[in-house]
Amino acid sequence: MSNFPIAVLASGTGSNLQAILDTVHCHDGIEVVAVGSDIAAAPALERARRAGVATAAFPLADHDGDRVARDTALADWLQERGARLVALAGYMRLLTPQFLARFPLGVVNVHPALLPAFPGLRAVEQALAHGVRVFGVTVHFVDEGVDTGPIILQRAVELPRARDADEVFEQIHAIEHELLPEAIRLIARGAVTLDPDNPRRVLLG
Ligand code: GRF
Repeated sequence: MSNFPIAVLASGTGSNLQAILDTVHCHDGIEVVAVGSDIAAAPALERARRAGVATAAFPLADHDGDRVARDTALADWLQERGARLVALAGYMRLLTPQFLARFPLGVVNVHPALLPAFPGLRAVEQALAHGVRVFGVTVHFVDEGVDTGPIILQRAVELPRARDADEVFEQIHAIEHELLPEAIRLIARGAVTLDPDNPRRVLLG
């Protein structure tokens, strides 16, 4: 019996979804009850089906390009499934404020850079182009901005000789696959709150 039902949204390969399915799904009362996507053919959905998890796709075209209508249908489905937390694992769409209002402090994202550096798309490529020597991963709450919400977990990796994105991604993915599940476990345990003196700051434990 699940006392902490969660949902995952993914647009692509779904390796982060797989890490969640392998390490937090059906552990400590956490259950992945829904996996949604904006892309019907996303390989992530197949991973969910293989794990026996309900899936659905919500392409924008099915809602005449109306993002609010799409996100309302998505939020309705996730809430029907009972999701209390929504983890974005490579979900490549910005969620509308209307969606976020349905899950207050209940949407988290994994980003392949040390925010606030390199938000948005192609973060690893941005970091490489900037010539950084330290790369990293951030798990954060999602707010209405692009990768601007309060930071839950971060981990850095020194790669002073990295030259191409694939090389960096290999290390980054391994970190992501630990950090996103860890953030979900902490939230499920009630160990994540916002500092009343600074609501940008997350308190752990
Ligand atoms: C990850 O690198 C994540 O940081 C970014 O999208 C990628 C998704 O990878 N937001 P995968 O589909 O989980 O393999």
